[in-house]
Amino acid sequence: MHKRVTKAIFPVAGLGTRFLPATKSVPKEIMTLVDRPLIQYAIDEARAAGIEDFIFVTSRGKSALEDYFDHAPDLEASLKASGKHELLEILQNTNMDSGTIAYLRQHKPLGLGHAVSCARKLIGNEPFAVILPDDVIAAEKPCLQQMVEAYEETGGAMVATMEVAPDKISSYGVLDVESQDSAVMKVNAMVEKPAKGKAPSNLAVIGRYILNPNVLCNFDHLGRGAGGEYQLTDAIAHEITAGRNVYGYRFEGQRFDCGSKAGFLQATVAFALARDDLRDELSDYLAQLHATRHAAQ
Ligand code: UTP
Repeated sequence: MHKRVTKAIFPVAGLGTRFLPATKSVPKEIMTLVDRPLIQYAIDEARAAGIEDFIFVTSRGKSALEDYFDHAPDLEASLKASGKHELLEILQNTNMDSGTIAYLRQHKPLGLGHAVSCARKLIGNEPFAVILPDDVIAAEKPCLQQMVEAYEETGGAMVATMEVAPDKISSYGVLDVESQDSAVMKVNAMVEKPAKGKAPSNLAVIGRYILNPNVLCNFDHLGRGAGGEYQLTDAIAHEITAGRNVYGYRFEGQRFDCGSKAGFLQATVAFALARDDLRDELSDYLAQLHATRHAAQ
C-alpha cells in the first residue's frame, strides 16, 4: 500500500507572456473559461482526487490569485438577503477552509522544476501531486483522480501523457516507454523539448504529476536544462537513472492547452457549449458564422 496523496503543488509563478498585455495585471490563472477562473478548475480537480493541502508557488503580481480564495462574507450576505440562493451556492463552493492553502514565492522565474522545488519544505516526506492550471482537462472522472487510482497500484512517479501531433511534439516533455499497450506505461527515458525529428515518441507530458520527494532532491545536483530553465522533466528522468520507477499515464478526457490563445478559445467554446444556459444561443451563433464564411468562399 502506498502513502495517500493529500498535498498538491500549483506552480503559478510564470510570467504568462503569451497573454500580454492582459497578464500585465491579471494572473493567467484568474482568466475565466466562461465564468470560472482556470485555477478553480484545477482546485476542483484536486479536491475530487482527495487533495487536502493546496500549495501555490506564486510570484510578484499574483495577489489577485490570493484574494480569489478569500471568503466574501459581505457578498454572501447580500446574495442571501436578495434570495439569490443559486449564486450563493456557487460562491460558497469556492470557499477554502482556513489553513488548507499555503502560498510560497518563487523569486525568479527559473523554470517549472525550480518552482516545484520551492515547495520542498512543505512537502516533507510524502508523495504529492503537481497540477498546472493552464492544462485544463475535461473528463468524466477527473484526470488527477484517475492518476491517484493508478498510483495506488504502482507507486513510483507518474506523469500524465497524451499523444500530440508530430509538428507540436518539440514543445513538450516526451516519453520513451517500454510498451504503449495499456494506460499505465513504464517509462525508459524522457526528454524535455526534443529537437525536431529527435522525439522518442509522440507521447507528450501533460501538466499532471504524482511525485515523491526524491524528485525534488534531484535538483541538488541538476543544472539548468532546455531553455536555460530548471526542468521538472529532467528531475523526473533522473529517477529512472537512479533505478526508480516512472510511469506515464494515458488519461481519459479532453485536454485544452489554456496557456496558448487558440487552446484557451477552444476551451471557452467547449465549456460554453456544455452549459445548458449558453448552449443554444452560442451554437446558433456558431452555425450562422459558419454559414456566412461558407457563403463568402
Ligand atoms: P509556461 O511554460 O506556460 O510559462 O509555464 P508561463 O510563464 O506560464 O507562460 P508564457 O509561456 O510566458 O506565456 C508552465 C507552468 O509553470 C509555471 C507557470 O506558472 C505555468 O503554470 N512556471 C513556469 C512557474 O511557476 N515558474 C517558472 O519559472 C516557470
